[in-house]
Amino acid sequence: MRTSYCGTLRAADAGREVSVCGWVARRREHGEHLAFLDVRDHTGVVQCVVARADAARPEHVVKVSGTVRLRPEGTANPSLSTGEVELADCKLEVLNAAEPPPFVLDGHAEVDEAVRLKYRYVDLRSARMQRNLRLRASVNSALRRAMERLGFVEIETPLLWTPTPEGAREFVVPSRLQHGSFYALPQSPQIAKQLSMVGGVDRYYQIARCLRDEDLRADRQFEFTQLDLEASFVGETDVRAFVTEAVKEAAEAVTGQRPPEFDQMTWAEAIARYGSDKPDLRFGMEITDVSGVLRASELKALRAASVKAIVHPGGASTGRARLDSLVERAKALGAAGLVWMRVVPGDGPGALEVDSPVGKYLSHGERSGVLAACGAAAGDLVLLVAGEHRRSCEVLGQLRLDLARPAVGTGGLRFAWIVDFPLFDGVDELGRPQAAHHPFTMPNPEDLELLETDPLAVRALSYDLVLNGWELGSGSIRIHRADVQRRVFSALGMGDDEVEARFGFLLGAFRYGAPPHGGFAFGIDRLVALLAGEENIREVIAFPKTQSGADPMTGAPGPLGARQLAELGIKIVG
Ligand code: AMO
Repeated sequence: MRTSYCGTLRAADAGREVSVCGWVARRREHGEHLAFLDVRDHTGVVQCVVARADAARPEHVVKVSGTVRLRPEGTANPSLSTGEVELADCKLEVLNAAEPPPFVLDGHAEVDEAVRLKYRYVDLRSARMQRNLRLRASVNSALRRAMERLGFVEIETPLLWTPTPEGAREFVVPSRLQHGSFYALPQSPQIAKQLSMVGGVDRYYQIARCLRDEDLRADRQFEFTQLDLEASFVGETDVRAFVTEAVKEAAEAVTGQRPPEFDQMTWAEAIARYGSDKPDLRFGMEITDVSGVLRASELKALRAASVKAIVHPGGASTGRARLDSLVERAKALGAAGLVWMRVVPGDGPGALEVDSPVGKYLSHGERSGVLAACGAAAGDLVLLVAGEHRRSCEVLGQLRLDLARPAVGTGGLRFAWIVDFPLFDGVDELGRPQAAHHPFTMPNPEDLELLETDPLAVRALSYDLVLNGWELGSGSIRIHRADVQRRVFSALGMGDDEVEARFGFLLGAFRYGAPPHGGFAFGIDRLVALLAGEENIREVIAFPKTQSGADPMTGAPGPLGARQLAELGIKIVG
């Protein structure tokens, strides 16, 4: 039907007779018998000069045939890729009429999200969504290229599966043939990919859809996509190298540049320096330990086991109301309090003093000691939190983000590997340790003996990949021996019967020749969002759900009819 895409026509095409197809983006009357039609397809917009354009309304589907010509002197539009040309002597054919669109697609209007999603098929025509979807496709194909080059085999794992303990609530599917029984939709292909290792696959990958019934946020949807991989006879560094290669290839496919080397630090270091296991390395403001300086302080509140500080450069001008709100924020985050110090010039050259509610309770040596320890200068704001090490770091880590985090899409791409995670991350209300990653993660062999005596001290052979403060993915070397797996299940508080019922098949597989193996998965939605400069992964998903998990377009989720319920053996109560 067409010879050219709208957005591709240039001055060099002048004189060519072409046909374009697309949607009417805009119509402007020019005198009685002439109109300018902007016709849009996924490549952009071209201006068509049409006699009698009355039949063409916004979003009508049209075919326009005409001759490319240079626009008259002084009328070129530098903001359009086709701004130097227009189609003249046009023949217009309306292929399908459209009702007036629910919103204007010019990229300027702020459109309510629910309306965009209700008419997602219209929304997808926007330049932003076209760019994001195509960017996502090029990420997927770069990932496939890299994985295949590295010898990984694409395998599709089941969607109708059995519960896997990965920390989220599962979506379940009722069985029609066995009333009262349910499949679980996979939170990830974790167990299936491990079983493929037992099956001799050696290197598995999949662009895998995962489903988790968890609260939705900017970086979370019910269903999302992972690049999921697993390999046999490998160590941590091998797995990280595979992932690094794939991610770099994807980033390069989008930005045209190979991203800089990935940083690497231990989990303990990430907590101590940034108060987070997903540090945003696009800016400084690292946490400093100033406990040593304040050990003998008269101020009891600062004599804690651990006193941490961050410096907000130039923050001394922060007003009282904002400082009060920072104190409140710190308390809400779990700190006993927050001490602020505005750094001001002192008496004498280079001398510094502090303007702070606690200034008078600190000796001169303590005040200057704190400033020296954290490298503060006149005009800065110093924030101190005293208390338990991890909590203090986490509170300041959050304030660091509140105060200075660069916007998404700015500050470049700062990837970091976080290694040496603990195996367990705290305990639940019954005092049982909680898996920091998932229960298939191999404990560090040096710490194996602590599993029963001091589980929270056990380190894991696990690692996360972080990009600009977002957790991109995580992985680990896995347990491949039934006895170790049983010990970890037991440390998690699972009894033998429960283990047998839920994971008997996995432990069975471990008895039939499971190779040492490890792997990783990262969120493609998150990677694409960050590469596209989008703050919400919804913007890089063709048909996402709203914050409340609904799809305003299809109306899902919706009720089932009585007949279907009966067939499934389901009775709705309440
Ligand atoms: P994990 O649970 O850390 O690990 O998930 C890996 C990555 O998947 C992405 N992700 C999500 N993205 C969007 N919406 C969600 N609801 C969501 N949940 C997770 C994140 C996350 O880092 N099986 C293990 C991996 C392994 O050990 O190999 C797993 O799934 O980017």
